[in-house]
Amino acid sequence: MLVKAVASFMAIGVASAHMELDWPYPLRSKFDPNTPENLIDYSMTSPLDADGSNFPCKGYNTNTPWRATVAWSAGQQYNISLAGSATHGGGSCQLSLSYDNGTSFHVIESIEGGCPLQSKYDFTMPDDVANGDALFAWTWFNFEGNREMYMNCVDITISGGSGTAGAFESAYPAIFVANVNNGCSTVEQQEVVFANPGKQVLYGGSVTSSSSPFPSCS
Ligand SMILES: *[C@@H]1O[C@H](CO)[C@@H](O)[C@H](O)[C@H]1NC(C)=O
Ligand SMILES: *[C@@H]1O[C@H](CO)[C@@H](O)[C@H](O)[C@H]1NC(C)=O
Repeated sequence: MLVKAVASFMAIGVASAHMELDWPYPLRSKFDPNTPENLIDYSMTSPLDADGSNFPCKGYNTNTPWRATVAWSAGQQYNISLAGSATHGGGSCQLSLSYDNGTSFHVIESIEGGCPLQSKYDFTMPDDVANGDALFAWTWFNFEGNREMYMNCVDITISGGSGTAGAFESAYPAIFVANVNNGCSTVEQQEVVFANPGKQVLYGGSVTSSSSPFPSCS
């Protein structure tokens, strides 16, 4: 059984604003100076719709002209940063890549517990990624508040990788998906512990490397 200590800090009231990826620049981000005014999503901090209708990427992977905002090299260290004030007590996040325009996302880093209580997280772009165009995603399951899934996606270009898309997809687990009418829900005040976190894992909140996966979804 999963036993989770209640975090020592008290839950603060849930505000109406949430969090968004501000680096690298996601599709339709107001932080990206090259986003046309008419495409800016000023509600980028909002979660995905609970009915699943705008999973993945709030639908922006299919209705926004493709334009890479970063060119990343395999084997190098990069960072993401997050903006917004409502961290909802943290939660668990994943960083992932899609080589099939958003049909599947595969995890390059999981941050289990305490995410995003830091505004910046480092990760290494694996050596065995495939080169070319990809979608990079930040997903988040908040610890407190409504049961939601957050997902911001970025058009990126990758070079220097030694892999193929197919090999990458086999070697890296699919992202965890919940709270989008897909038969899997998270539980408030219980940290999400990914069953398949991938190769780079950071721990925070009450989660450690010996925590049991939660919730259990097929
Ligand atoms: C994150 O990476 C960007 C781009 O490489 C860099 O400009 C920025 O300084 C980094 N942020 C931090 C906090 O290190
Ligand atoms: C993704 O979509 C773009 C056009 O939107 C297309 O050129 C490309 O071939 C697609 N990639 C895959 C892997 O389906």
